[in-house]
Amino acid sequence: MRSLIDIVDFSVEELDELLKTACDIIENPAKYAESCKGKKLATLFFEPSTRTRLSFEAAMMELGGNVLGFSEASSSSASKGESVADTAKMISCYADIIAMRHPKEGAPYVAAKSAWIPVINAGDGGHCHPTQTLADLLTIYRELGRLENLTVGFCGDLKYGRTVHSLLAALARYKNIKVVLISPEELKLPKYVKYDVLDKAGMEYVETTSLEESMPQLDVLYMTRIQRERFDSFDEYERLKDSYILTAEKMQLGKDTMRVLHPLPRVNEISVAVDNDPRAAYFRQALNGKYMRMALILKLLKEAEEGRQMEQIQNTVTNEFYCDNPRCISSVEQELPHVFKCVNPEMGIYRCIYCEAKKTRK
Ligand code: NCD
Repeated sequence: MRSLIDIVDFSVEELDELLKTACDIIENPAKYAESCKGKKLATLFFEPSTRTRLSFEAAMMELGGNVLGFSEASSSSASKGESVADTAKMISCYADIIAMRHPKEGAPYVAAKSAWIPVINAGDGGHCHPTQTLADLLTIYRELGRLENLTVGFCGDLKYGRTVHSLLAALARYKNIKVVLISPEELKLPKYVKYDVLDKAGMEYVETTSLEESMPQLDVLYMTRIQRERFDSFDEYERLKDSYILTAEKMQLGKDTMRVLHPLPRVNEISVAVDNDPRAAYFRQALNGKYMRMALILKLLKEAEEGRQMEQIQNTVTNEFYCDNPRCISSVEQELPHVFKCVNPEMGIYRCIYCEAKKTRK
């Protein structure tokens, strides 16, 4: 079934269509109030979430549908050792569409391959978070009136921040986007995102450690939380956790038209005093997330009815390389084949289809 695992699963035209539907939902909510009558969304959250899960649930309810699911792994059969593939097949018997969050990278992809209903990736480890990107795109569009000709600063944990990876992949397909990557050395953007996303799209970007110096040029400042749960060392987290704090004073360095986004939850990287600044768009962004999830549910259910299938990944090799990323779903599910796709035939570069870890053929 057609699913949303990575934001690049959708073309720019499809993203624009979703934005259009979301805007129509905002204008005419009553028109959509029964669109999903009799349909069920299963929210399978193997990792904590407030916004994403509740906004999915609210989205389905506002479409007139129903919701079932669980909000922590310990209350699911995963705690008994059930595989993601089995869970997905079983849920396909009870629901019409799945939203899944999982700490292991690639788990929603594994679910989508086994389920016979659409699967939406609601965040997989430090990898992707495509529905947050939908919320981000609608927010930029509604706040600034365009998705082109923008300078976007990403600040904080660019290494583990999955929302950053997905938003960059989306913006790489719009015209004239300049990116400023603001992070401590230790939390720089992973090379695979730099090479496969930014360089491939010929996107202009700079890396810096200074938020203050970057502020004046930004149209959008995308703040992120340091992702404590992804650190191997607690001491390293403690050392880096307060790397950037956006204060009301620092906001004075930004343009009047700049907007501050944050996927939330914030810890202390944005001081509460900034909330009163009209340029602080993060709570509006959370609301936009619900509208985009409504548009997404409508699209995937319609395509499921039409029998549209997921695109097959091409140029793969099976069990030729072994994925050694401990955060990859293949590291815990013994029977999953280790599948890699060739991303650069000249250089012999392959990437794990679940988590995008790199291997080079010697
Ligand atoms: C983000 C996530 O889960 O990656 N939150 C969200 O979905 N709104 C960001 C975060 O947890 O820092």
